[in-house]
Formats: sequence, C-alpha cells, structure tokens
Amino acid sequence: MNDSNFYIGLISGTSIDGVDCALVQFENEQPKLIATHFKAIDPSLRKDILRLCSNGEIDLELYGNTDVNIGRAFAAAVNELLVNESIEKSTVRAIGSHGQTVYHHPTGNSPFTLQIGDPNSITQLTGITTVADFRRRDMAAGGQGAPLAPLLHRNCFQSSSTDRVVLNVGGIANITVLNKDGTCCAFDTGPANVLMDYWIEKHQQKNYDKNGDWASSGTANQSLLKLLMDEEYFSKAIPKSTGRELFNGPWLETKLQKLGQEIKPADIQATLLRFTIDSIVDGIRKTAEPTEVYVCGGGAHNSAFMSGLQARLRNRNVASSSSLGIDPDWVEAIAFAWMAKQTMDGGSIDTTSFTGAKQAIILGGVYKA
Ligand SMILES: Nc1ncnc2c1ncn2[C@@H]1O[C@H](COP(=O)(O)OP(=O)(O)O)[C@@H](O)[C@H]1O
Ligand SMILES: [Mg+2]
Repeated sequence: MNDSNFYIGLISGTSIDGVDCALVQFENEQPKLIATHFKAIDPSLRKDILRLCSNGEIDLELYGNTDVNIGRAFAAAVNELLVNESIEKSTVRAIGSHGQTVYHHPTGNSPFTLQIGDPNSITQLTGITTVADFRRRDMAAGGQGAPLAPLLHRNCFQSSSTDRVVLNVGGIANITVLNKDGTCCAFDTGPANVLMDYWIEKHQQKNYDKNGDWASSGTANQSLLKLLMDEEYFSKAIPKSTGRELFNGPWLETKLQKLGQEIKPADIQATLLRFTIDSIVDGIRKTAEPTEVYVCGGGAHNSAFMSGLQARLRNRNVASSSSLGIDPDWVEAIAFAWMAKQTMDGGSIDTTSFTGAKQAIILGGVYKA
C-alpha cells in the first residue's frame, strides 16, 4: 500500500441525525474500518434542511446558505476525526461525500435528485480531494439514483452458499437481495425511522424512540395499519426509491385525519413500528427467499423493531450486520468511502440491477485538493 491509502466516507441520511464520518482502508476491495466520528447536526441547520425538504416554495438564499453550511459541517467532521486520531491529511487519498438529500424525484420527464453540502467547501477546508454528487450520474443513465449502498453490500456480504438480504433501517428502509447464484436486486421498501421520529418528537420532544420503548407501551391499531399500507408506493414495481418528499409528518397527519378515529399517541407509535416491519417484510416476500437477514442503520439498535422483525420472519436468521464483521452504524459511510475509491481508480460501477441504470457508469464528480 502507498502512503495515501485511507479513504473517508461522509453521509447524513434522511433521519438528519448527524454526519457519519468513517476512515477506511481497503485490501482487495474489502474495507477495514480504522476510525469513526459522528458529528450531530446543529438544530438550526437541521431546521433549514427540513424546510428545504418540505415540498413548498423555497428561497435561493436559504438553499445556497444551507448548501455551504452542510459542506462546512461535513468538513468539520473530517477535521475533527483527523485530529482525534492523529492522522495526517496527506494519508487520505479521497473523501467520498454523499451530502444531504433534500429532494429525490426519480420519476417523470425530468427526474432529479438533490444532495447538498458544497464539495468545494469540503475540499477547501480539509485540503483533501473530495468525490461527491454520486447519484445524479446514475439518474442521467436512466437509473433511480438510489439505492447505492447495495454496491457495498454486494462487495462485502454476498455468499455463494446462502441467500441473504441486507436491510438498512435509516429514515427510509432499503433492502438488498443477494442470492447465492449471484443474482441481486435492491430497492427502498418505504419509511422506517422518519415517521417514528416525527411522532415522538411531536408528543415527547425526543429525537427518537429509544429501543422502541414507547411503541412497545402501546397497541397497534389495525384500521390505521391498513390505511398506511394502502399507499400506492408499496405496489409499484422495482426498481423504485423514495424519501421524505412522500413519507413525512404531513403524510401521516393526512392519513390520521382520513381515518377520523381517536387513537392514543402511544398506539399510533406502536402502529408506526408495526407498519415499518410489515412494509419491510412485504418487500422481502415479494422479491426474495432469504435464509439470513442482516440489519444495518440506526434501526439495528431498536430492540423492539429487531424482535418484531424476527417474529415476522420466523424461519430466517435475523441479525445485525456486525455478525458479518461490519458495525451497523457505519455501513453507509463505508459505502461512500468505497465509492470514492472506485471513482478515483477510474472504474465504472454496475448499478444496473439496483437502480435500473441502463449501463455501468463512473459515479461522482471529483473536486481536487
Ligand atoms: N437505540 C435506538 N432505538 C431506537 N431507534 C434508534 C436507536 N438508535 C438509533 N435509532 C434510530 O436510527 C435513526 C438514525 O439512523 P441512521 O441509520 O443514521 O439513519 P439515516 O441514514 O437516515 O441518518 C435515528 O433517527 C433513530 O430513529
Ligand atoms: Mg444518520
């Protein structure tokens, strides 16, 4: 290995909980996680991001300021990690920055997806070459632009002896089907933490429902569950991807109004947990017959979610991705470090079975230090 053999992956997901920053080394394309740093998103920046995500009119100044501020927060995350670990920036070949998705619209005549967090600022403030804007090239090639983390899942988790599913439970949930015969597919199954986080924040001013304790204190309401599952997205064919523009607080409030029943807040949280599990299981059943299901993302820490999922997938082995050697909190950030390496090495990536892109392509724009 030469001197600059480290890569850094950066992402802030749909939950907008914070910036995941992972320092990674690769040997034969297999990642080794060297160090990590999580930088919480400043509440006022989070508010700006949420305003940009909402489907209303926005002003360009808010957009521009937020773009730069996210870029600065990402750069600060990198610089803090390098100081904490006493790592020289010259040893890092590239940063792969996913950015922050503020809008994802993969359908229609002019599909687009928008990840902000100015890469110029990241390069300038870290002194490290930054690769960013991974999703738009995929869309330009006819793909959904998402999900992309399955590229890493295929690289690290595919087995020739077992059919596996990798399930990422972030704000949105996505699955990667990895069959032992080498075939694979991936898609977003629907909402995950985004709705549960919204509901607990509204009623208890907490960021999330730790271990699903509040959900476990209630009882799922079957009529509401049916109404939530009755959403066009779930019956769409793959490839498909979604985000906050569809599944958000107002979406839930509209469904509640439509139902018109008095339901206790804890029972609604229980229903949202059940809804997350049911929509994931539905997505798995339509596309896979896995023996093993490996969970990553913040949802892997939600014990009520994990046991509820295992109960629904009775004969399958449900476990955290850590049992395959990768900490569930860092899979996505590692994926963007890996993607930066692919871009720097100049090789095209085959996303066709995941996003529906028409050909293998080189993803990401390079901002040289
Ligand atoms: N101990 C836990 N119990 C329940 N939920 C958790 C726990 N830890 C994390 N989470 C959930 O995971 C979310 C963050 O997951 P993450 O994978 O970072 O999502 P994203 O990729 O959308 O940022 C939090 O918003 C929270 O809802
Ligand atoms: Mg996150």
